[in-house]
Amino acid sequence: MAHDQDLTSAYELIYTVAAGKNYQREAHDITALIRHRHPTADSLLDVACGTGLHLSHLRNSFAHVEGLELSAAMRTAATARLDGIAVHAGDMRAFRLGRTFSAVTCLFSAVGYARSVNELHQTLGCLAAHLEPGGVLVLEPWFTPSQWITGPVDTGLAIDGQRHLTRMCVSHQTGTTSTLTMHYLLGETSTGIRHWTEEHTLTLFTNEQYHQAIQQAGLHDVEWLPGWNDQRPRIAAVKPRP
Ligand SMILES: C[S@@+](CC[C@H](N)C(=O)[O-])C[C@H]1O[C@@H](n2cnc3c(N)ncnc32)[C@H](O)[C@@H]1O
Repeated sequence: MAHDQDLTSAYELIYTVAAGKNYQREAHDITALIRHRHPTADSLLDVACGTGLHLSHLRNSFAHVEGLELSAAMRTAATARLDGIAVHAGDMRAFRLGRTFSAVTCLFSAVGYARSVNELHQTLGCLAAHLEPGGVLVLEPWFTPSQWITGPVDTGLAIDGQRHLTRMCVSHQTGTTSTLTMHYLLGETSTGIRHWTEEHTLTLFTNEQYHQAIQQAGLHDVEWLPGWNDQRPRIAAVKPRP
């Protein structure tokens, strides 16, 4: 049985060490993308912020940043990392923080956890409601049905000092639902080897469904930009000024 800390440190090791995800570079690109559309942007909300890795860099570019996250384990890790920064407990599909921001981000496909087109619209409604006029949304979608390839086993290996981690992930698809079953093995000299599994279910929305949800949320100037690692793009959109 894994502790919360195992889950969150395994998450970070798999993406930063095994997969080479570079949160610092991504934060730099996100900042440039926001400033290009809103040069005086000074506040940012990261929705589904995970363990706070993007925010740990974005806090250097924006005077005020906050995060929101559903998982208590992820939130605890983010709060520990982001000393003094508010990380709200909340659900991207239904939250109201009572203030707006110059930018709202929802990164690394977290939006795919919306389980239906209706929930996608609810999520985009919440993201847009937290933007000030002229504010910028940065959204990284999950795979579309035509991009998704089911079946191949994905294997990751990360060694960090005394900690050795492997993750094998197998996926399947039912209709527009993709399910990923992940097996983790985490070995450490002090505690031995622990095994656990996680199942993640994400919806394969089409580009048109993302586009419609963004437009119905009242955002304009929707742009599809190349992503960092694979076929997944980044989407930028702006809340019109009155
Ligand atoms: C792939 S991770 C991305 C985390 C972070 N943005 C990053 O780039 O590392 C997806 C995150 O979405 C969170 N999440 C899933 N459903 C959510 C929801 N309904 N509301 C808020 N967060 C959610 C998960 O707990 C997880 O931390």
